[in-house]
Amino acid sequence: MHIPKCLGFLALACLSAAKLHPRNHKTHDYYAIHLQPDTPPQQVASALGLDYEGKLGELQDHHTFSSPRHRKHGAEGLLEDLRLRRRKRALTGAGVLDGVLWSQKQKTKPRMEKRSGPPDNGLPVAPVADAEAVAERADLARELTIEDPIFNEQWHLFNTMQLGHDINVTGVWKQGITGEGATAVMVDDGIDMYSDDLKDNYFAAGSYDFNDDNPEPKPRLGDDRHGTRCAGEIAAVKNGVCGVGVAYNAKIGGLRILSKIITDEDEATAMNYKFQDNQIYSCSWGPPDDGQSMDAPGLLIRKAMVTAVQQGRQGRGNIYVFAAGNGRGSGDNCNFDGYTNSIYTITVGGIDRKGKQTYYSEHCAAQLVVTYSSGSGDAIHTTDVGVNQCYSNHGGTSAAAPLGAGIFALAFSARPELTWRDLQHILVLTGVPINEDEDWDTTYIGRKFSHAYGYGKLDAYTIVEKAKTIDLLKPQAWYNSPWLHINHSIPQGTDGLLSSFEVTKDHLKLANFETVEHVTVTMNVQHTRRGDLSVELRSPTGLVSHLSVTRRLDEANAGYVDWTFMSVAHWGESGIGKWSVVVKDTNLNEHNGTFTDWKLTLWGECIDAANQPLLPMPTEHDDDDHTVISTSPTFVSVKPGPSETATDFPANPTDHQHRPVNAKPTAPGATSTASSTALPDAPPDEDETNTHFLPHYFPTFGVSKRTQIWIYGALAIIVLFCAGLGTYFFIQRRKRRRSEREDYEFEMLDDEDAMLNGNGAAGGKRKGRRAGELYDAFAGESDEEQLLSESEKDEEEYRDDGPASAEAGRGRSQSRQGEK
Ligand SMILES: *[C@@H]1O[C@H](CO)[C@@H](O)[C@H](O)[C@H]1NC(C)=O
Ligand SMILES: *[C@@H]1O[C@H](CO)[C@@H](O)[C@H](O)[C@H]1NC(C)=O
Ligand SMILES: *[C@@H]1O[C@H](CO)[C@@H](O)[C@H](O)[C@H]1NC(C)=O
Repeated sequence: MHIPKCLGFLALACLSAAKLHPRNHKTHDYYAIHLQPDTPPQQVASALGLDYEGKLGELQDHHTFSSPRHRKHGAEGLLEDLRLRRRKRALTGAGVLDGVLWSQKQKTKPRMEKRSGPPDNGLPVAPVADAEAVAERADLARELTIEDPIFNEQWHLFNTMQLGHDINVTGVWKQGITGEGATAVMVDDGIDMYSDDLKDNYFAAGSYDFNDDNPEPKPRLGDDRHGTRCAGEIAAVKNGVCGVGVAYNAKIGGLRILSKIITDEDEATAMNYKFQDNQIYSCSWGPPDDGQSMDAPGLLIRKAMVTAVQQGRQGRGNIYVFAAGNGRGSGDNCNFDGYTNSIYTITVGGIDRKGKQTYYSEHCAAQLVVTYSSGSGDAIHTTDVGVNQCYSNHGGTSAAAPLGAGIFALAFSARPELTWRDLQHILVLTGVPINEDEDWDTTYIGRKFSHAYGYGKLDAYTIVEKAKTIDLLKPQAWYNSPWLHINHSIPQGTDGLLSSFEVTKDHLKLANFETVEHVTVTMNVQHTRRGDLSVELRSPTGLVSHLSVTRRLDEANAGYVDWTFMSVAHWGESGIGKWSVVVKDTNLNEHNGTFTDWKLTLWGECIDAANQPLLPMPTEHDDDDHTVISTSPTFVSVKPGPSETATDFPANPTDHQHRPVNAKPTAPGATSTASSTALPDAPPDEDETNTHFLPHYFPTFGVSKRTQIWIYGALAIIVLFCAGLGTYFFIQRRKRRRSEREDYEFEMLDDEDAMLNGNGAAGGKRKGRRAGELYDAFAGESDEEQLLSESEKDEEEYRDDGPASAEAGRGRSQSRQGEK
């Protein structure tokens, strides 16, 4: 044994681990560059006056370069010059720079918003537990030796009050399928790998902190709790601490990206990190759910997703699970979010413990499934940050998506060879329709689909059984229609503008295309008020997807610019026949627009697997090739499409919609401002007992007036009591604080309430202060600053406060990229 060599190797391993992804967006600029395969990146670096940082994640022939802010170099001018010459196809004589195919200076973008939910403060749940179910659960716990203290509160695993309203997982566990061999990773704000409830399942090798460049993505900021709570839902260990995860023997890792500003290059690297070992990426975040944003992931991130489905998991494709978004109360819809709207993500919405629609979970044609989360007086009970800490108030679509990730881990445990499309196929076939009196369509293959619930709720047992036996799909094929040029003004009122394209048998044969899975429509529409628009897609079978809905808060004078809308409703159709889009503007007002053009893409199973190439990587030019067909639209009479309006707002709905991260909270009451024209769209009131005894903005909890009086009376007493107690403890605490200096990492966290979703916008002095802290954290002045490593402190002298804070405060620009 050569000890020195061994030590040297260890030191090297440590060094390379520490230097995995060193980025400092305060002091350095970064450039992502796509090179010809044979172009040496070091030579490109010296030609541009930049430093070479290494390969860009898993993206083929993509590299990252950097420069300290203070260094003078001509890189930007040179790259711009190259771009122009490439466009003119006049590229000669630039030497090694001829090998530059594409470049992008990295812009820091505001943090993505966590989709943790509206708090639901454990209000009394009317029904009492069913004695038989309680006994059954006790037997099960004995049989599986589950001794975790909050297992009995984890109604999403076994609901003893609303029977049947759980993920139906126990029959899977009884077969010994508990997640062995499966690995999920929380792409979030960290994971507490030292929690007793997580540490035995923690997967260190698949984890990384991209915010603080550290191999351990542990929570470092006061509100870094979201990732840990989500991780507990997936894979909390069965060990007598807190509760258990859905896949309690699966491995769980963390990729920390939500706690600081990052760039597309960081995100693309994170989304492919250790993608042979990390099977499922659970993502409970996205662009703001404010009913106004229309943002899609940038090109590098879209390339990372295509790379993941083609190469990750030994070529079977990684799974991206995304929370549908909490913007329903703001009239938002998940087709306006480029992550949930992507064919590469499984979009999961939330229902409550009674199986009811929640006021927050967004609808859309791209939503595949729903599962349980907060509402009807309860929330998800899970692990929290700390050695032995539990949390009983986890909610929003943030809490739904990880339950999906846990169930998918069980499916991979049972059948590791499922591809990313097989898993989606299983969900199409196994979704359980709920609330069938609401708006459901029967699809071509006889499944039920709803824009509110996708194919229905997840049933772990049915999913795992289907996973065991389903025939694997042949590789993915696609068919692109030409661009259909319309250039016609959009009528207002009851007429819509319809444009059709006939897909023939020969078209599809030529494309080696057999059966439809996803359908995307890329379109350009100009309009002086984007929120007035809505779009239907009508398939040859007559099934209608509402690709876009009116959004009462969306005032953008922007329309849709090369935006790609996606629907999963047409899964199983042949694709042959006439596909139509109908663009509508049902709001009679001074705002009008023009339908410019559109393009249909069918994605699905190929005919001949031996003859099916992989999809080329997306490029910036995917929408340039307008092999245009000019067509005349026709007028059809239309009804206003659905628009998202929740009836059951919580006391202060605006509090929960978004954190004050990259958008100021809307003024109170903004969400109740209905648009001037009538939108006959409110979902049916669920309960006739739902009459109000207080003004309408107080929730009725779906109970009678008498019970409401009782609840509010009890609440008032509790509030008074807590206020008294709070004052007492506050004074005590002040005394204590003066006497001893507290030195705890999560010092800011005074109590659970202050944490309500890290939202901080809620009323009350303390919450206001917290919001300030979050803002500061963002601008670079947080408590986290105090945890800066020495090396970072050294770099502080180069710090350029101006641009960093300015960039931090700026909202993310309207993005034009859709899914290709
Ligand atoms: C739930 O699981 C049980 C087995 O534990 C199974 O018999 C049943 O079909 C599953 N699904 C539903 C919807 O009950
Ligand atoms: C669109 O139509 C208008 C007239 O309605 C015309 O002036 C314009 O040139 C057309 N644009 C294109 C790109 O065809
Ligand atoms: C929109 O309305 C304005 C004023 O009423 C009119 O001049 C314009 O031509 C209209 N544009 C379209 C595309 O209909």
